[in-house]
Amino acid sequence: MAPISALIGSTEDSARQILDAIESQFQLSDDALVRITDQFLKDFRLGLSEYNHPMAMIPTFVTGVPNGSETGIKVPAGYIASIMFFALLALRTFLALDLGGTNLRVCEVQLKGNHQFTLRQQKYRVSEALKTGEATALFDYLADSVDAFLTEFPSSPNSAPPDPFATGSSALDLLDTSDSSPAVPLGLTFSFPVEQTALNRGKVLTWTKGFSAKNAIGHDVVQLLQDAFDRKHLHVRCVALVNDTVGALLSRAYTAGGCILGSIFGTGTNGAYVEKVENITKLGDSPARKHGGDMVVNTEWGAFNNTRTTLPTTPYDNKLDRESINPRLQAFEKFISGMYLGEITRNIILSLIDAAPYPILFNGRASALLNKHYGLDTAVMSEIEQAWENGRDQPSSNDKLVNGSHAISNASAAHPHPSLSTPTRHFTEVDKLSPEDRSRLERIRNIVIQRFALDAADVTLRDAAIVHWTSCLVANRAAKLSGCAIAAVLVQTEKAKLGGGFVPKDEKITIGVDGSLIEHYPNFNARLRASVRTLVGEEVEARLNIGLAKDGSGVGAALCALQATKQGL
Ligand code: BGC
Repeated sequence: MAPISALIGSTEDSARQILDAIESQFQLSDDALVRITDQFLKDFRLGLSEYNHPMAMIPTFVTGVPNGSETGIKVPAGYIASIMFFALLALRTFLALDLGGTNLRVCEVQLKGNHQFTLRQQKYRVSEALKTGEATALFDYLADSVDAFLTEFPSSPNSAPPDPFATGSSALDLLDTSDSSPAVPLGLTFSFPVEQTALNRGKVLTWTKGFSAKNAIGHDVVQLLQDAFDRKHLHVRCVALVNDTVGALLSRAYTAGGCILGSIFGTGTNGAYVEKVENITKLGDSPARKHGGDMVVNTEWGAFNNTRTTLPTTPYDNKLDRESINPRLQAFEKFISGMYLGEITRNIILSLIDAAPYPILFNGRASALLNKHYGLDTAVMSEIEQAWENGRDQPSSNDKLVNGSHAISNASAAHPHPSLSTPTRHFTEVDKLSPEDRSRLERIRNIVIQRFALDAADVTLRDAAIVHWTSCLVANRAAKLSGCAIAAVLVQTEKAKLGGGFVPKDEKITIGVDGSLIEHYPNFNARLRASVRTLVGEEVEARLNIGLAKDGSGVGAALCALQATKQGL
């Protein structure tokens, strides 16, 4: 059993002052949330009216979303029928290639119609050398992975004939190297900012999430990939380009019968929503604008407020930014996403180890792991919060995935568990806790010893409590800020009013989400919902149908590839 109350070498008062100061820096008042959301709306409008703003508001040329009426019976108001490729869905097979962050995936997707699809996929690791080397090497690797997938994972023998549009055809069936055969159509999910000019054209604007491959910025990403396929004589044609948020939006719409927003809370963060073309004034007199209707806009909200005038920046955030591969860029993403939360937490923990005149954590000792840049994975924070949740008397029900893996519940969202609203006690008096809470802290202490590679003698229960509190502070702020982004889209699309008091017409407002944080981080969804409720009121929040767009990148790319082939691209 660990020593319970040792305030080794510190004084209660100085420790409390330091912890209180950190806590107040990470607090976000309701007013601050409203201010941030208001700024979001201003930046949305700016990005819709002019090019070259950090919040890029990229027109995707996806001019509608599936509505679930693939038998062609019903088209809900607000969506246009111009891309009714879904009405044409029989059984279509496409390849999808997904380059997003942690992994590269190659998928074969069969769109079966009637909200159904099947998907076979293989993940490939992208090394640091590829992320930061020459772009041609990275794209050659993508082509090699597609080649390996087609060779190693052949389709079932009873697949139909080699016609990309024939019922039951498989991608492999189409891999005939004779020039007369049709090339395998492939949709590319490329989860980085790209200025799209057509469904199958777009220039890389910048890299994010630790990528910095040379000679890609300013180049057409479809061309870079196609050149790599051609260099390897692969009979594959990249016909569509899609961001992962657009994929999430389309695939959630396909399975749920409509969707207004696709958003990612994973290694990075971003959202794509359905906007009226008339509001995308930067399209000027282009044919797309004249055509009117709706278009999916990729907000690239990870770059919100790069100037940090509105975001609640702390010294820990500034340190992270300064030491990052892309200083002064992707400010919002650095407060929110899985790539960075562990690093912010590590920065706080280090400051507590180094606290003067007395250390507050671990006897003033760090480990090689804690000293390492990005040494603390966000998954460890998740594990720590889960250890606390596990022994709770009344587990929170508002964070569960329900309905298989496809919907995230809003149950009891109006009654958050205390740990959602006050995750901020730093437990300076651990010996006053109940035996149950102490045993939960004991579990956290074990995780800390193991994952931080620390000497057990240096880790007290109080240290465990402080590490848990730190994780809660950082994750709670991230979830609240994520709520601002979602609330801004709700207001922009006239589903809500900032400040509340709006009764939506729609019974359900469907949102597709994906990413490790929203899927796995304990209470992230519930905390996000609490923030949305603060911003737009209970009426709207209660109608949010937030569901996992689990295979969004693959299915979304396939849906776009289908649209592209219908357009003869
Ligand atoms: C990228 C977005 C992407 C998001 C989620 C961000 O870093 O800029 O394009 O959608 O990550 O993967």
